[in-house]
Amino acid sequence: MSTPATLSIRRPDDWHVHLRDGPMLAACAVHTARQFARGIIMPNLVPPVTRVDEAAAYRERIREAIPAGLAFEPLMTCYLTDDADPAELVRGKREGVWVAAKLYPAHATTNSAHGVTSMERISRALDGMEKAGMPLLVHGEVTDPDVDIFDREAVFLDKVLVPLLERHQGLKVVLEHITTRESVQFVEVHSGRLGGTITPHHLSYNRNAIFKGGIRPHFYCLPIAKREEHRLALRRAATSGHSAFFLGTDTAPHTADTKECACGCAGVFNAPVAMQVYAQVFAEERALDRLEAFASLNGPRFYGLPANEERITLQARPLEAPERVEVPGSNKSIVVFRPDTPVGWSFRAKDPSLRSG
Ligand code: NCD
Ligand code: ZN
Repeated sequence: MSTPATLSIRRPDDWHVHLRDGPMLAACAVHTARQFARGIIMPNLVPPVTRVDEAAAYRERIREAIPAGLAFEPLMTCYLTDDADPAELVRGKREGVWVAAKLYPAHATTNSAHGVTSMERISRALDGMEKAGMPLLVHGEVTDPDVDIFDREAVFLDKVLVPLLERHQGLKVVLEHITTRESVQFVEVHSGRLGGTITPHHLSYNRNAIFKGGIRPHFYCLPIAKREEHRLALRRAATSGHSAFFLGTDTAPHTADTKECACGCAGVFNAPVAMQVYAQVFAEERALDRLEAFASLNGPRFYGLPANEERITLQARPLEAPERVEVPGSNKSIVVFRPDTPVGWSFRAKDPSLRSG
C-alpha cells in the first residue's frame, strides 16, 4: 500500500490525559481540544479529585478553559484512596459525573502520595464499581523499591492484576500506558474485560533515548520507556486493529524548570503533536488503514459510548508544532514532545471538523 497524501478518519478521543489546573490548564487544554473530541481526565491534582462535587467543579473549569469554537467533552475520573467510599463512587457514576475511577498505587508516580497502599483497602469500592459498571483505570507498576524500575510493570501484572481480575470478575479494567511485551500479551489474553492504552511516546522511542548524549529529562515519564523489543511489541499491538488496544496519550505537562533539575518530574507533554506522531507510527508500520480503529473506535466501544460522527483529516507533510507552550501569568513554559526521528504528518489547516456547531 502506498502512503496516501491525506487520511480522513472519525474524530479521535484521548482515553488518558492530564490537563492539570489553574494556569497549566489554561496553557494545555486547547492543545488537547484541537486534537480530540473527548478526554478521560486524570484526577491526580493536588489535592486529588476524590469527591463528586470536586469532579463536577473541575469539569466546569476545564470547559471554561476550552476556547470558543472548539468542541471538547471532559470525561471525569475519581482518584481512589484507601478510604474510597463505594457510595460516592456509585452516586457519581449515576449522576453522570464519573466515567471511571483511577488506581494509583501509593507513590508510584506524580501526585500519587494519596494513592492506594493495599488492594484489600479498596475491595468494597471495587465491588461497588463492578455492580455500577464503572471501569477501573490502573497505573500498573508496583512501588516496592527492591523491584527494578524497568520490571515494575511486569511484576504488577502477576502480583496485583491477576488477583484483582480474579477477585472482581465483572469489573472492566484498563491497563493504562502499557510499555512492555508482557502487558501486550496480558491485555490480549484478558481482552473483553481488559483494555490497554498506548502513548505516542512509548511507540516512538526506547529507553536509550533517555540517555542519548546525556540525560534528557523530557523523555522521562512513568512507566519509563523500556527496551526496543518492548517498543516493537507496542507498535504491533497498536497497529494490529485488535479492539482491546486504544489511544491514550498520557500527555503530562510539567514546566521545564521542574524537569530540567536534579530531581526532575516524570511526564511527557505530547498534546500538540499526538495525532501527528501516531499517524507517523502507523505510516511506518504500513497500517494507516487501522489508525481509525485505534484512535476513534476501540476506545468508545470499550467505554460503551458512541464513536464521534465528525471527521478529521491528516496530511502527509512535515509536522509543524511549537517547541514550547507558555504558561500564562508566569515566565515558565512547557517543552513539547518531539521524537528524534522525523514526523511527516500534520493536521489539515483549518479543519472544519474541529469547529463546534
Ligand atoms: C503523570 C503525571 O505527571 O501526572 N506522569 C507520567 O510520567 N506519566 C502521572 C502518570 O500518569 O503516571
Ligand atoms: Zn498518566
